[in-house]
Amino acid sequence: MKKRQVLKGYRKTTWIVHGPDKTTKWDFSRHVVPPMTSSSTYRLQSVSRGARGFCEYGNPVGDDAEPIYIYDRLDDPTREMLEGELAQLEGGDACLTFASGMAAVSGALGAVLRSGDEVVAHDLLYGCTHSLFEKWYPRQGINVKRADFRDPAKVASVIGPKTRVLYCETPVNPTLDLVDLKALSRARDEVNRRRGDNNRLLLVVDSTFATPFCQRPVEHGADIVVHSLTKNIGGFGTEVGGAVIAPQGLYHDLKWYRKDFGGVLSAKSAWSILVYGLPTLPVRLKRQQYSAEKVARFLEKNPLVREVRWPGLASFPQKELARRQMIDFDGEFAPGNMIYFRLDGAKIDAAAFVDDVAQNAYSITLAVSLGHVKTLIEMPSGMTHSAYSGEGAMRGVDGVRLSIGLESPVDIIRDLENSFARTAGKRKGKSAAKAPA
Ligand SMILES: Cc1ncc(COP(=O)(O)O)c(C=O)c1O
Repeated sequence: MKKRQVLKGYRKTTWIVHGPDKTTKWDFSRHVVPPMTSSSTYRLQSVSRGARGFCEYGNPVGDDAEPIYIYDRLDDPTREMLEGELAQLEGGDACLTFASGMAAVSGALGAVLRSGDEVVAHDLLYGCTHSLFEKWYPRQGINVKRADFRDPAKVASVIGPKTRVLYCETPVNPTLDLVDLKALSRARDEVNRRRGDNNRLLLVVDSTFATPFCQRPVEHGADIVVHSLTKNIGGFGTEVGGAVIAPQGLYHDLKWYRKDFGGVLSAKSAWSILVYGLPTLPVRLKRQQYSAEKVARFLEKNPLVREVRWPGLASFPQKELARRQMIDFDGEFAPGNMIYFRLDGAKIDAAAFVDDVAQNAYSITLAVSLGHVKTLIEMPSGMTHSAYSGEGAMRGVDGVRLSIGLESPVDIIRDLENSFARTAGKRKGKSAAKAPA
């Protein structure tokens, strides 16, 4: 079990910069920044110490016990420091990091589910999570039912005796729909009143779009939180990683799952996220939100745009829920840096518009992923959510996703405006853009 550090009255915005002032994981009392570790295996002074390490693996040890490091895939000090900080920031008991966001999603679920169990998941999810549920889980004897999580009563109505997990993202990738976590937790509690301890229904939330800065699902009743660290938490577009924040009772199984399936976060990636990603998260997101508001308002006024989704807009359909659920470390409303918009197909072809941005804009890059220092644009229907194939439009995946970076919003808006001007009126299927010479 990870040691839970005491915040000593300091704000999380301060704590995220400094982390714990003492750690049993690593002796770095003379370093200002934790050292980077790069050792696949560890010296074990005696056979009995090695055997004790294996025997105690995944069990809670006393807070001040010196950890026994054996092998990088089992444990690593830098990774453990990152995990301690993430657990603290999310307000959870424990955290385990993984090799990617998808490794974290499959680790969180793999440690809980058995063949014959059932998952109830929101209709719309990140494309690879959808593919995990539709392509792989049926082969493992795990049934996945889908429901509209914006309506907790609908979710409650499909929960059956075999349902073990309720799974959703909030905000949802890419539409930014929100799920009311408190309402869903109440539906879960209702079911758990009739269940025993080893069969409890768990609410698992992918909070990647929000990060712990904008939203902490445990505070709203979630059991397990998953993140792609590749996105805003890593923040610079240099690392791939994932994290699971879970109650203490699941720690042992999660740790054994990760050891045996092997999807560990590399120590070097953990170090970058710990040293660069986390301490700069609040300042990056505050700046990105500031720009996102300006870009969202610009888009809203544009006659070529049919609909704009950003949780901070007055027109956002779930604005009250956004204001309740998306709150930053300082208690302020934190609608995040993701925007989703739909173009008016009669006036402009979305693919031609995005092609034009890709080929002519300096401040915006056509690329998947999100939560980068650079502003990224993509069309989920053909890219991140292509696993939905023909069903995409039905579920609202027919728009354009923007992840706002750290550029000046003036430049982002100018680049969008120029691409609108060049592509307005162009016929569908005809790419309007010409690459600069
Ligand atoms: C909401 C969400 N969850 C999970 C993932 C998977 O993360 P990774 O690419 O780090 O595996 C992504 C990736 O885009 C995502 O957007």
